[in-house]
Amino acid sequence: MPNYTAYAAMTLDGKIAREEQEFVDWTSKEDADHYQASLKKHDVIIVGNNTYQTAIENLSRRNCIVLTRRVTSPERENERLVWFNAEHDDLDAYVREQGYVGPAIIGGSKVYAALFGLIDHLYLTIEPLVFGSGIPLTDGRQIGTAMKLASLKQLNEQGTLLLHYVKAEKKDIP
Ligand SMILES: NC(=O)c1ccc[n+]([C@@H]2O[C@H](COP(=O)([O-])OP(=O)(O)OC[C@H]3O[C@@H](n4cnc5c(N)ncnc54)[C@H](OP(=O)(O)O)[C@@H]3O)[C@@H](O)[C@H]2O)c1
Repeated sequence: MPNYTAYAAMTLDGKIAREEQEFVDWTSKEDADHYQASLKKHDVIIVGNNTYQTAIENLSRRNCIVLTRRVTSPERENERLVWFNAEHDDLDAYVREQGYVGPAIIGGSKVYAALFGLIDHLYLTIEPLVFGSGIPLTDGRQIGTAMKLASLKQLNEQGTLLLHYVKAEKKDIP
């Protein structure tokens, strides 16, 4: 059974970017190191098309399922990249069919929102920054998932926090 792990870095005011297709270069070195080391452990990366466009160079080295509504069935571009419409096809069924066991969900906002229910582990980095405006962690649609804190680590003197949450057994939100 696949074990889904999501990674996100957000500001104190809950933003993951200032605008669509902004390359994430504002996180601390400590978080960037944790993120890059963690991604190596996963056999496939699930990412939205906007985020993919910001990081093609890095992501083209990895197996990627890139979500887009531009296809109506999974389309393999090359050995590593598949375009997939999760509004059209069942992503979890596809992941199982392909034999992936450890998918990483890396956002952005629309993808976290669409896939939150699948997430078993969430590594959420809080950077002590405030953007004031920008893209929130999830895109505003209703979600009903509860999680439980598994660990908390301070990554640097500035106060970057790495929170590890696991899916809560009780899924109902009061
Ligand atoms: N701080 C962080 O941890 C972090 C992490 C990831 C991303 N980001 C930032 O977030 C921003 C992008 O976020 P975003 O919400 O605008 O975009 P996104 O989630 O990366 O991509 C959205 C696009 O993905 C496709 N998509 C999303 N859900 C889908 C579904 N269920 N089925 C089919 N296609 C789906 C659609 O592509 P089409 O338009 O092609 O149909 C949609 O327009 C960027 O600035 C990025 O750098 C930050």
